[in-house]
Amino acid sequence: MFLCIFAAQEDFMNNMIDMLSETISYFHKLNISKPGVGIVLGSGLGNFKDELDIEVEVDYDQIPHFPVATVEGHHGKLIFGKLNGVQVVAMAGRFHFYEGYTAQEVVYPIRVMKQLGIEALLLTNAAGGVKPGMKVGDLMIIHDHISLGIINPLIGKNIDSLGGRFPDMSEPYKRDFIEKAKNIAVSLGLPVSEGVYFGVTGPTFETRAEYKMIQVLGGDAVGMSTVQEVIAANHMGLPVFALSVITDLGIRDEENIITHEEVLLAAKEAEPKVSALIREMVKVV
Ligand code: HPA
Repeated sequence: MFLCIFAAQEDFMNNMIDMLSETISYFHKLNISKPGVGIVLGSGLGNFKDELDIEVEVDYDQIPHFPVATVEGHHGKLIFGKLNGVQVVAMAGRFHFYEGYTAQEVVYPIRVMKQLGIEALLLTNAAGGVKPGMKVGDLMIIHDHISLGIINPLIGKNIDSLGGRFPDMSEPYKRDFIEKAKNIAVSLGLPVSEGVYFGVTGPTFETRAEYKMIQVLGGDAVGMSTVQEVIAANHMGLPVFALSVITDLGIRDEENIITHEEVLLAAKEAEPKVSALIREMVKVV
């Protein structure tokens, strides 16, 4: 079984350059305007697309070589348009490793957006808070991550034309973007913290012992997305900004359980704050 998985990955890597050029020529035929910024909208944050002046929307299943949806009813769209006057491309819905995609498939759309010309990547996600004092609905700017809990998307043959074999990860989230976001948050009157995102595969939420371990290891929030995308972006020299909405608290006294519905609801409630910040960020990255 592992041999099959590795063979499939090897195939993917060997064909990736051809696949990317076919995906890109599909978009060129649609005559899209070149986007300057790529945006990935996390769980519960899909309504953000109402902020966009949409020019072209394409269902993922129409895009050559995009991963094929594994989960019923989980179809996303790639949206081209303007946000606050800036030409952007936004993913409404992302691919998660826990859905059964390979790590390379999860990051394929990031590679596509880079080839379409984006010069900055803005990511949003829902995450569980483990830092003491965090509350549901808080925003956390990610300034670093811990990737121990995920599969690295660069495992396998390196494609030198995309990036080097051993990418530096000392500034995975661009410091300048973080400073700009903090200034914007102050001017909007939005409280934000900064912290370390701990990546896990999911789909289980963590046990109480695991949330504690994540805190001890230096995580401030934990989530099932983002890290693989950030690794691929860094591999290609694409600067990143990422923002977590804290949708549940991992370290808590209460006996309550964590549900996906509660996570989606908390993200939806925080959406206006996320939108306000991202709207301004596209102008300065
Ligand atoms: N753990 C992992 N992923 C998450 C969580 C969490 O508590 N909340 C939202 N995504």
